[in-house]
Amino acid sequence: MKVLITGGMGVIGAEASRRFVREGHRPIIFARHRDEWLIRDILEEVDIELGDVLDMPRLLDVIKRHRVTHIVHAAAFVGAVSAANPALSVQVNVMGMVNVLEAARAFDVARVVYTSAKGVYGPVLGEYGAPTYKPVPEDFPKNPKRIYDSAKLMAEQPLARIPANLRLRFPLPERRNPPKYGHNVSARQRTLADAIITAMLAPC
Ligand SMILES: NC(=O)c1ccc[n+]([C@@H]2O[C@H](COP(=O)([O-])OP(=O)(O)OC[C@H]3O[C@@H](n4cnc5c(N)ncnc54)[C@H](O)[C@@H]3O)[C@@H](O)[C@H]2O)c1
Repeated sequence: MKVLITGGMGVIGAEASRRFVREGHRPIIFARHRDEWLIRDILEEVDIELGDVLDMPRLLDVIKRHRVTHIVHAAAFVGAVSAANPALSVQVNVMGMVNVLEAARAFDVARVVYTSAKGVYGPVLGEYGAPTYKPVPEDFPKNPKRIYDSAKLMAEQPLARIPANLRLRFPLPERRNPPKYGHNVSARQRTLADAIITAMLAPC
């Protein structure tokens, strides 16, 4: 298995990369900016390719050159950055996914795992909110409120039409506040990384 992790220097991508390293793999991290902080402990055990998921020729080149067989797509415009740049948020979050899928199709990549977001459901209340945090079912009505949530939902559409690929949403309880962004990895984010590995290794 040769795994490419887009956004592999971000919070989720870095933790997923770490998990793959622990499983004995040497992941390729594909990221727009070089920021080694979150992967500083595994720098010697990964390959880094700088590139933008909106740059299709670059994406194709990296997948071909490394003979990539599996992709975790965790590159995204999230949070305040997304809200401040709606046009770019839609481009990166939607067209980035489309490009990854097209590139995967071009080189017969066996599996793509996409990290969607609970925000596609909009605010979840009642038993799905505090204090019970019942897991949200996949068929729960979607009601995205923010541009980020809408873009994440839109990016699920092409994925849902490619049966060989898995999609992955995170209807997980948020029982603790994440630590300061970018400095540590919360228990929830570790759980998300576990879910990525499980989805990647699950039988088709
Ligand atoms: N962090 C969470 O708790 C959480 C929860 C649910 C879903 N997710 C999803 O997981 C994914 C990753 O989230 P995160 O928290 O790690 O975000 P992050 O901002 O920490 O990481 C995203 C990474 O993507 C890179 N990136 C952005 N645009 C790019 C582009 N055009 N080309 C290549 N790389 C680009 C950034 O440089 C960054 O390293 C997102 O899709 C997000 O929706 C995260």
